[in-house]
Amino acid sequence: MTDSLVRAPETDRTHATPEQYAERYARSLSDNDAFWLEEARRLDWVTAPSKAGNWSYDPVDIRWYDDGVLNLCHNALDRHLDARGEKVALHFEPDDPESEARTLTYRELHREVVRIANALKAIGVKKGDRVTIYMPMIPEGTAAMLACARIGAIHSVVFGGFSPEALAGRIADCESRFVITADGGLRGGKPVPLKDNVDAALERPGAGVEAVLVVRHTGCEVNWTEGRDFWLADKANDADCPCEEMKAEDPLFILYTSGSTGKPKGVLHTTGGYGVWAALTFHYVFDVRPEDIFWCTADIGWITGHSYVAYGPLLNGASQVIFEGVPNYPDAGRFWDVVDKYGVSIFYTAPTAIRALMREGDGPVTSRDRSSLRLLGTVGEPINPEAWRWYHEVVGSGRCPIVDTWWQTETGGIMITTLPGAHDMKPGAAGKALFGVEPVLVDGEGKLLEGAAEGNLCMARSWPGQARTVYGDHQRFVDTYFSTFPGRYFSGDGCRRDEDGYHWITGRVDDVINVSGHRMGTAEVESALVLHPTVAEAAVVGYPHDIKGQGIYCFVTLVAGEEPDDALERELKAQVRSEIGPIATPDLIHFTPALPKTRSGKIMRRILRKIAENDYDSLGDTSTLADPGVVDALIAGRRNR
Ligand code: WTA
Repeated sequence: MTDSLVRAPETDRTHATPEQYAERYARSLSDNDAFWLEEARRLDWVTAPSKAGNWSYDPVDIRWYDDGVLNLCHNALDRHLDARGEKVALHFEPDDPESEARTLTYRELHREVVRIANALKAIGVKKGDRVTIYMPMIPEGTAAMLACARIGAIHSVVFGGFSPEALAGRIADCESRFVITADGGLRGGKPVPLKDNVDAALERPGAGVEAVLVVRHTGCEVNWTEGRDFWLADKANDADCPCEEMKAEDPLFILYTSGSTGKPKGVLHTTGGYGVWAALTFHYVFDVRPEDIFWCTADIGWITGHSYVAYGPLLNGASQVIFEGVPNYPDAGRFWDVVDKYGVSIFYTAPTAIRALMREGDGPVTSRDRSSLRLLGTVGEPINPEAWRWYHEVVGSGRCPIVDTWWQTETGGIMITTLPGAHDMKPGAAGKALFGVEPVLVDGEGKLLEGAAEGNLCMARSWPGQARTVYGDHQRFVDTYFSTFPGRYFSGDGCRRDEDGYHWITGRVDDVINVSGHRMGTAEVESALVLHPTVAEAAVVGYPHDIKGQGIYCFVTLVAGEEPDDALERELKAQVRSEIGPIATPDLIHFTPALPKTRSGKIMRRILRKIAENDYDSLGDTSTLADPGVVDALIAGRRNR
């Protein structure tokens, strides 16, 4: 492994030397409560907590800083006003580079948040209410999240790329009576009809939404329902709007994420622990200094946009860029234009974007200056060493350390990474545990694996940023994360730990696939497919995809008498797009007369995965199949594609 080691650069590191890391890490485990009480001082508390962790994995009951009282909007904005009110909070870069960019100082962002908070109150939002945010990547999106936090409402951000159907499901699940959206968005020059999508979602029976606040953004035409729809500008005002005092365990937000079964789960995070975790991880992992300009390219519709756009940077009083657009518009140099324009020093993105840009060659990168960059990061999926090296050598000109950060919606923030300056890097390995995090590997039977080993990645103890429950369904939370390996949190990922204690994530071990860094439940795609009247059965698996990491491979059987053709294939793809959204569009549809099943009727996904991967030599035991001949037919079908 040593030949693939990339030495930690001798930076003027401020946060951790290897020795400091080791010492602090050891103490974070051995003196856990004291460590976390100390770390809690990163935030302002109305009432400081007297105890940190108070949790159990059996039964599952997770609490941190239980008797503490605080408000995260105060921590993200108000408390900075005296010392750095005129410091830049957000540089907003619009989709179209010719459009007007906007810069908001902490004072200006604070004012915007107060205005939105007052608008929320004006439409009837109260503490504890769920507010759905369906927005483009504009400052008002982040401001809306903070406005909810300010008044104690629970935000549920739904990615603007999700379809009306998917939006409707998420509104209904948490019984959200309020929606904040924009007239429209722009991505890569293409309009996104956000308000139209909200209208369509609210036509579904039982929607129950009382009021929709609409931000004027693109100026596009929208339909209007009097008495339900309100322009934000008409409801916003500058009246005093004090921060609501929240208990540490009061819910902060719900974020829907895909699992291996059923509908997306509303993962619930609470105020105190999440706040400490977002603040701490941002501080250590990005090694942030006062003059830094941070840029995380994630949308606020994902957890990365929650922890490293909305909360982490602002809790730390950092300056950041918010970008509405996409990496390849107007051309493949856009990211680096934005880096140069704002002097971005810390850049955090997904491997899929790196791979897509790598394909365009070095030109669009090397033609830009990029000398402001000093630290690079990735998140969302394993990064292949080739893409890692390109990122390091071309984008970072070999100067910038890379943090490959492993974490999940459920973990609230970064869990495993190298720390810049402290750790040498290995291309493709996430690295070591952050403070207070105790990863363990177990085999299929739950037996603990020591030393260098490969197994299922679990956490042996809780950390403040851990999700507390699945909204409205605690049993599902218990079943999903704590029942496979009792007494531990199970991530759903496979992992290899090498002799240096570095973690190499091998991908999901459940029926979740990772498409361009987006988690997708294969069951969700299957449900969308079988809604089509010609489809009898569908089985969806992932397969290796050069750019997306994994592509979506759908095996489909049709009802008797139906014949597959190109038109049907197009219809099925359209069906999935309208049920979930463009990110779930199938890459391959493989019509087959039958699926491989056991005699008890269970689909053998292991075999389907191998066929999708074009790996026919290791199909394993097919003797338990009800009809082993199905496999030959499937292979023939795959080869013909
Ligand atoms: C995967 C995104 C390898 C993993 C923050 C995890 C990664 C899932 C990495 C969570 C990484 C995330 N290396 N795999 N650095 N980061 N993953 O909830 O499979 O959208 O379980 O959170 O992404 O996806 P989620």
